[in-house]
Amino acid sequence: MYIMERSIICQLLILFISFDIILCFPSYQSLIPNGNAVPDTCEKSDIWIGVGHVGPLGSGDRNVFGNDFAKYGRQWTKTLCQLDSDGDGRTNGEELGDPLCLWKPGSNVTLQKAISNPVPLRLKTFVCMRYSLPTTEDYHMIASKPIYNNRKAVNYIAVFGCTSSVEATDKPYYCNVMPEPGCDELMSGYVPMCLDEHAGIQIGRTGYKHVLVQWFFSNPDLKDDVFDNSGIALYYTPKLRRYNMGVGTIVATGFTIPPKQLSYNVTSSCPGFCTEKYLTSDIHVAMTIDHMHLFVNKKSSIYGMEQNKDPIQVKAKDSFKMTCFYNTTLLGSKIGGGFDYSSEMCLGRIFYYPKESWTQPSCASYRSIPLCSLNAGGTVSGCNINHFLLMLRKSPLFTTLKSDCAPYLVCTNACLEHVARIRRHPCLQGDFYQLWQYPKYQKDPFLYKLFRSFKLCEKDYQEHGSFIHNSHAH
Ligand SMILES: *[C@@H]1O[C@H](CO)[C@@H](O)[C@H](O)[C@H]1NC(C)=O
Ligand SMILES: *[C@@H]1O[C@H](CO)[C@@H](O)[C@H](O)[C@H]1NC(C)=O
Ligand SMILES: *[C@@H]1O[C@H](CO)[C@@H](O)[C@H](O)[C@H]1NC(C)=O
Repeated sequence: MYIMERSIICQLLILFISFDIILCFPSYQSLIPNGNAVPDTCEKSDIWIGVGHVGPLGSGDRNVFGNDFAKYGRQWTKTLCQLDSDGDGRTNGEELGDPLCLWKPGSNVTLQKAISNPVPLRLKTFVCMRYSLPTTEDYHMIASKPIYNNRKAVNYIAVFGCTSSVEATDKPYYCNVMPEPGCDELMSGYVPMCLDEHAGIQIGRTGYKHVLVQWFFSNPDLKDDVFDNSGIALYYTPKLRRYNMGVGTIVATGFTIPPKQLSYNVTSSCPGFCTEKYLTSDIHVAMTIDHMHLFVNKKSSIYGMEQNKDPIQVKAKDSFKMTCFYNTTLLGSKIGGGFDYSSEMCLGRIFYYPKESWTQPSCASYRSIPLCSLNAGGTVSGCNINHFLLMLRKSPLFTTLKSDCAPYLVCTNACLEHVARIRRHPCLQGDFYQLWQYPKYQKDPFLYKLFRSFKLCEKDYQEHGSFIHNSHAH
């Protein structure tokens, strides 16, 4: 991240190394005994307690194990270690890489790999599981570390916090690149991360009670003997830090990248009038994680994480801006923006604190339009949505549209005249005009009616519209 004139520019980085893919139902490595993994994640190991939450055990029967774990005081005891929670003939210790039950928090016993399963063949596969988190107390999650056992098979692991009341699952299931509603707040994943020492992500009693863990698998050769048991460890502490960490999103949508471009950029932003409205006090940006797909220009680096040693202070009226650079020299045709793998992505996550100070932590843009402007009411490319809608409501235009356009199934001259007049408005030009084509943005009944009239007269407008408008103007 770089500060430029009080704007923040995130450089985007690649996340996926391959376009290939595929499928396994793994049983994942679990890291209940975790002590020796901690120093890798953060330097200060003394504040960790026990273990984080984790990948499932054995063939995914994490619930059974979770129950036992709770039953034995949430500690890795010899008894718990020697149990066979999921009944697959192997002890918990064997499955967790501690077959002799020697591991203790802080000990140096090296964990062995957990046992893995092969899975059905598939091209691209996202697999998810939901887990319960401990809820007896409030905790801060302060670090996390994916454990990739088969880098060829796993493109990444991501963890999302669930805000709705969901149940833990006892098996992995196929899911989408954007996980389900209610479990869509990114918390960690991709790369090891150690949160800024002032803040942690709330889990437990008043924070997330469940997480969704998502694996993105790849099997380029469509082999049927691919195994994986990757997982992720989350580190948390009951010693709450001063601030809660929030994770905001910045994402570009609606874009198209032409082929044969060495350096094509796509941006998304939250202008100052949005932060002025949505920041209740200064925030500090501690880290960003970016997410692009395949056609990444060398200006971006491989893993999309930027950690700011001194978190960047962002004040009301500062702006966020993200720029993604693409290299489509090898591409024969254009590529659009989207979440699936035949599209490109330009998305960033902003880890900031205090969480509560940014009330709408989203900076999505549709092409050149920051979507926060639809609610915050600022002016973009000469268009102020609030003023525009107010103008529509007050003007006689709306009634005339109704009487001259609505009753007919063809475009009348009277209707065409209204259409020609209003369509010159900056709020109906270019990207705005495209944006309003999406029903979800036509929530306002005025806009809806207006666009019905436009549709009716589109052909005539293209042929005669500017002429009509000009003759009126004189
Ligand atoms: C673990 O600790 C024991 C005693 O503290 C020591 O003898 C042993 O070499 C250590 N093992 C590793 C792998 O560091
Ligand atoms: C993005 O592309 C535009 C148009 O080519 C160019 O004017 C602008 O400087 C580029 N921005 C960055 C950050 O490279
Ligand atoms: C763009 O992609 C081509 C083809 O993969 C590669 O040779 C070139 O080095 C890339 N350039 C940049 C700036 O990313």
